[in-house]
Amino acid sequence: MTGLPQGFIRSRDVLEERLSGAQVRQLELQHGNEELLYGLGLIGVAGPFSRVTPWELEDEQGVRRINASGYSATPFGEMPPVLTEFMREFLEKNRAMGLPQQSSSPWRAALETNLVRLLARDLPSHADSQVFFCSSGTEAIEGALKFARAWRPGTKYSISFNSAYHGKTLGSLSLTPNPEYQDVFRPLVPGALTSPYGDLDALASLIRRLGPSKVTCVVVEPIQGEGGVNIPPAGFLRGLGDLCRRHGIVVIADEIQTGLGRTGHWFESAAQGLDPDIVTLAKPLGGGLMPVGATIVRQAIYKKMLGGLSSKRHSNTFGGGALAMAVGLRSLEHLIDTDLPARSRELGAAGLARLQGLKARHPRLLQEVRGQGLLLAMQFQPMVGLPLPGALRELVFEATAILALRELHQAGVMANLSLSSKRTVRLTPALDMPQEVFDTMFDRVGAFAARNPASRYLLTNTPPALTARLAKFAASKPKKRTPSDG
Ligand SMILES: Cc1ncc(COP(=O)(O)O)c(C=O)c1O
Repeated sequence: MTGLPQGFIRSRDVLEERLSGAQVRQLELQHGNEELLYGLGLIGVAGPFSRVTPWELEDEQGVRRINASGYSATPFGEMPPVLTEFMREFLEKNRAMGLPQQSSSPWRAALETNLVRLLARDLPSHADSQVFFCSSGTEAIEGALKFARAWRPGTKYSISFNSAYHGKTLGSLSLTPNPEYQDVFRPLVPGALTSPYGDLDALASLIRRLGPSKVTCVVVEPIQGEGGVNIPPAGFLRGLGDLCRRHGIVVIADEIQTGLGRTGHWFESAAQGLDPDIVTLAKPLGGGLMPVGATIVRQAIYKKMLGGLSSKRHSNTFGGGALAMAVGLRSLEHLIDTDLPARSRELGAAGLARLQGLKARHPRLLQEVRGQGLLLAMQFQPMVGLPLPGALRELVFEATAILALRELHQAGVMANLSLSSKRTVRLTPALDMPQEVFDTMFDRVGAFAARNPASRYLLTNTPPALTARLAKFAASKPKKRTPSDG
C-alpha cells in the first residue's frame, strides 16, 4: 500500500488550527493517555490551550488564564520571542550537523563549556568537569547512576530520600519511593534504599549499617519539588556532602527542578553548601521548547565510565543534537543576561508573603504554605476532617488537591499538582513574568481562597453531578471513555 493512511492528519491542518478542541480531545482519548486526559477533562483542565502571551493561555471559549503550571520547565513562559526568534535564525543560518553523534559540534561544545563554567563559578572543584547530554530529566539521572556505579564497582546500594522524585524510567524510578509509581514494576533495580529527607543522623546510621564501602551513591534534590516543595533543614546538604566525602560515596545533586534559577540560585545545592560529584539538569535548560538534559560529572568519574575504547558505553541518539543545544545555549545565555535567579528570589519572596497572608486569613483552607524563589506550594486542609483509614485518607487528600486545582483554574490561574504530595498544589510561574501579571495572578489566588474559605467549600462548590462522575472515575477500572467537557 502506498500513500497516506486513511485519516492521516496533515501538519498544515494542525499548524492552521483546523482541528477543533473537541476533535483534539477525542483523538487523544482514542490514541493517547486516555485515562489521564479523561480525568483532567472532568475537572475542566484538559485544554487544549493556546498561547496569548508567554504568561497567559486561553481555552477554546477564549477564557484567559495566567500560567503558573509547566512543572518548572518553562522559565520564560510559552514560545518566548527570545527563543523563537533565535530558532528562526538558527534554521536559516545553521550549517552544523543536526545529530552529530560521531563528530564534534560547535553547539554542543559551547553549551558543555558554558555549563561547566557556570557550575565552576559556584563550585571551583568542577572547573574540569565534563558533560553528557540527553533529552529528559530521568535520562540525566540514569546517566548519573551509571557514572556512579562504574566509579565504585563492587558497591551495592544507592540511597535516595522519602518523597523524592527522580523520574520514571526503571533506574530513576527505583529511587523515587512512591508505591503508586513503583509497585507494579517490581522487582526494581536492586539496592535502592530510602532515608528520611532532611535527617542527617538517619542517613549516617543507614550508611553505617550497610557498610560505607558498599554504598555507591546518594541522590538528593536540594529542595524537593514533586514531593511538595520541601526545604531541608540548614546544614543537611553540607553534612550529607561531608559524610559521603569521608567514605568516597558519590553524591548526585538532582537539580532538574531547582537548578538554573527556579529557587533563586543557579545551583541550589551549591547555595546550601554542597559540592556534589554529579549534577543533573533538564527542565529549564530547554527553555520550555526543546528537550535538553545534562549530567555534569567530575572528570575522573566521567573518564572511568567513558574512558578509551569504553567511550561508547553510554550513548544516545538525540542528546547533543544541534537544535536542542542551540536552544539550550540561548536559554542559558538569556537566564544569565537577565539575571533571572535574582528576579526569582525577589518575585518569590513577594509571592510567599502573599500566600502567608492568605494562610493567616483562611487557616481552614490552607494548612501550610512553603516555597523558595518561584517554587511555591499551597498545602490544603483535607476536605473531610474525620479520622479515616489509610487508603480513604489518601483519596481525600488527592481529591482535595484536584478540586483546588479546578477552583484555581476557574479563578484564572493554572497550577501544578505535586506528584508525590497529594494535598499540595504548586505555583511555578515563568521567572520573567511581568510584575503586573504576577500581581494579578495572586489577586486571583486570593479570589480563589475567598470563594473557598475552608477546604470543605472545594467540595460544596463542585456541582454534585461532577462529584458523582469524579467518584465513579476514582472507583472505576479503565475502559474506553467518551470525551468530557474539556
Ligand atoms: C527533581 C526531578 N528529577 C527528575 C525529574 C524527571 O524529569 P523528566 O520528567 O524530564 O524525566 C523531575 C521531573 O519532575 C524532577 O522534578
